[in-house]
Amino acid sequence: MVRHLLEIDDLTPEELLAVFDLAESERPPQVLAGKGMALIFEKPSARTRNSMEMAVVELGGHPVTIRPDEIGIDVRESAEDIARTLACYHGAIGARVYAHDKVERMASVASVPVVNMLSDAAHPLQALADVLTMRQQLGGLAGRIVAWVGDANNVARSLAIACGMADMEFRIAAPVGYCFDDNDLDRIRTSGIEPVLADTPEDAVAGAHVVYTDVWTSMGQEAERRERLDAFSAYTVDATLMAAVADGGIFMHCLPAHPGEEVTREVLDGAHARIWQQAENRMHAARGLLAFLLS
Ligand code: CP
Ligand code: NVA
Repeated sequence: MVRHLLEIDDLTPEELLAVFDLAESERPPQVLAGKGMALIFEKPSARTRNSMEMAVVELGGHPVTIRPDEIGIDVRESAEDIARTLACYHGAIGARVYAHDKVERMASVASVPVVNMLSDAAHPLQALADVLTMRQQLGGLAGRIVAWVGDANNVARSLAIACGMADMEFRIAAPVGYCFDDNDLDRIRTSGIEPVLADTPEDAVAGAHVVYTDVWTSMGQEAERRERLDAFSAYTVDATLMAAVADGGIFMHCLPAHPGEEVTREVLDGAHARIWQQAENRMHAARGLLAFLLS
C-alpha cells in the first residue's frame, strides 16, 4: 500500500517515533537511489524547498523542483493528471499548495507517496521537525506544555495534532475570529488532545515548556494584512512574556519571521530561541519521513 503524508496523523504515534529514529540515523537507507522526487511549489519557500531537495540527495535520489507557472495545477491540467504523470518518472511527489484538496486529489490517484509540503490547512513536515526538536531540546515529550500565541493557522493545526500524538498539552491564545473553529477543534481532538483555549497570551505561556508563534498573515492572506496587524497587536511574543515560561522553556517559530510583529528581535536572538535547530531539523525530519514512506 502506498503511504502518503497529507497531515501529521497519517503516521501513527509509533510510526512518528520510527521516523524520528530514521531522522537521527547517520546511515539513512538509500531508498531513492536512481530515482527522482518531484517537488511542486504553488507558494514561495526557503526551508521546505532546500531541506527537501537535500533530503532527497541524502537518500540517493534526484530532486526536481517545479514552479507554479511550469505546471499549473488545475489550470494547465488537473491535480490528478499531474500526479499520474509525475509518478511515471519519480519515486515520490511533494506539493506545496493553497487548497488542501489538491494534495488529497493527487494522493487519491498517485502510485507513489505524496507529501504535503504545506497547504492552507496543514504543515505536517514542520510539525514533524518541531516535535523532533522539542524531544531533543526538552529531553522528552509526554506531559510537556506547548503554548501557541497568535494565528490558529496551518502550522498551529498540524502542531496541535502532533502534540496530541505525543501526549503533550497544547494551549492557544488567539484574538477573537482567529482561533480554531469548531471543525478545527473536532479534527484536533481526533489525536486524543483537548486544546486549552487561553484568554490571554499571559495565561497561555505561564509555566509552558515551549512558546510557539508564526506570522499573523500567512501566504495567500496578504489582502488581510492591515486588519490582521490590528487584530494581533496584543499578541507579540516579547521578553516579558518569555519570562513566564517553565525552567528550561524554549521559544520556537517555523520561520520566516516578521520581527516586531509576532515576535521581537530580542526573543528571536535570545537564549530561549531554538529556531535554527528547528530549521536544521526540517532536513533530518524530511529524510527520516521519506526513508519511512519508501521503505
Ligand atoms: N517553515 C517553512 O516552511 O519555511 P519555508 O516557507 O521557507 O519553506
Ligand atoms: N503560516 C505560514 C507558514 C509559512 C511556513 C504560511 O502559511 O504562510
